[in-house]
Amino acid sequence: MNTTGYAHPKVVEAVRAQAERFAHVCFSDFTHEPTLSLAERLVARLGGKYRVFFGNSGTEGIEAAIKLVRHHTGRPYLLAFAGAFHGRSLGALSLTASRSAYRKGFGPLLPGVFHIPFPNPFRPPLGASPKDVGDAVLEHLEHLFRTVVPPEEVAAFFVEPIQGEGGYVVPPPGFLPRLKALLERHGILLVADEVQTGAGRTGRFFALEHEGVEADVYVLAKGWPRGTP
Ligand SMILES: Cc1ncc(COP(=O)(O)O)c(C=O)c1O
Repeated sequence: MNTTGYAHPKVVEAVRAQAERFAHVCFSDFTHEPTLSLAERLVARLGGKYRVFFGNSGTEGIEAAIKLVRHHTGRPYLLAFAGAFHGRSLGALSLTASRSAYRKGFGPLLPGVFHIPFPNPFRPPLGASPKDVGDAVLEHLEHLFRTVVPPEEVAAFFVEPIQGEGGYVVPPPGFLPRLKALLERHGILLVADEVQTGAGRTGRFFALEHEGVEADVYVLAKGWPRGTP
């Protein structure tokens, strides 16, 4: 998913020029100017409210987010949608629920991860109709909180604003703001996995912006088109 196309002459030139100066650095121990200036541009793009952590892949971003939300909240449990894809390392795979083949032979995975149905208006789960699928999913989540998972022990909900590998499904309008409000009532963080949807691919920098929702943590990866941020 290289948004610049492959072997774009400007990208090739930038790689060559950087290799002449400094070919490798481990960000956790050292830093260098291109990293700092990208971080500054990202922080400025996001209104100065967020901090940036660089990794090597979307999966590593998800792993970092799992650690961050647990550390920050002191809470153990994580939520995600059935059909989600968040990566294939052990933590990220525990959130991924798009194909059991990814998990085959690697279990048991991270304990304390719960999945609820995605509000798919085309194939509505939970016996719902396309019109009330959002209500049905939110009621299902409240039922989960009443019967299985104490909400005050949930650190975060990981969400693809448009479900990618699970079928390229846009949730019903208004669903994400209602989900965010429900999570906020319980002090649960929203992690937006914008690995596929972010960096302008849906017309806004984050897909969540279409619904007027701000996440607590964003995960970005893949190619970033010129000018983002
Ligand atoms: C929504 C989503 N999250 C996470 C990942 C994992 O990213 P990566 O392949 O860069 O590790 C992907 C990969 O396609 C993805 O689509």
